[in-house]
Amino acid sequence: MKEVIPAVAILLIALMPQPLRAEPVEYDGAELYALNCSNCHGIYGEGDGAVTPDLSVVLLDLRYMAARNGGVFPADFVRQIIDGRESRAAHGPAGMPVWGAEFSRGEGTSDKAQERVTDKIDAIVEFLASLQIMD
Ligand code: HEC
Repeated sequence: MKEVIPAVAILLIALMPQPLRAEPVEYDGAELYALNCSNCHGIYGEGDGAVTPDLSVVLLDLRYMAARNGGVFPADFVRQIIDGRESRAAHGPAGMPVWGAEFSRGEGTSDKAQERVTDKIDAIVEFLASLQIMD
């Protein structure tokens, strides 16, 4: 019986309703990238995804974005390119989906949903920052 009591206590604690999560969901940038971007840009951003031969443009290697920008990863530029909703008309790449709109379709238009869209894009930007080759 003595051994059973702690087990029951642990079970009861486990079954207690958890408080609503206050923290935002953490998105996995690597996974989002693999799902949404690697088809074109390649698993590591090197520009050799499965559909790349069908594209009419040569993809820039996403691992050298910092190197192409004087050694500084251009996070805001990258964020805007991925989102695409504001910048596409001005200078966004043709042939690339507008991910801000794509993610919004999945998430919805409420403020909370838009926050999730921003969090997803930020997670991808962070992942791309981690891929940068500086030499
Ligand atoms: C259907 C193909 C396609 C998909 C999918 C795609 N892209 Fe692109 N992307 C392009 C094309 C085409 C360009 C323009 C050529 C270039 O800049 O490499 C581009 C350009 C970019 C650039 C600018 C590179 C530079 O240095 O100017 C970034 C950053 C980028 N894409 C990130 C992403 C991310 C992140 C995803 C996934 C959320 C994604 N792309 C999905 C086709 C695609």
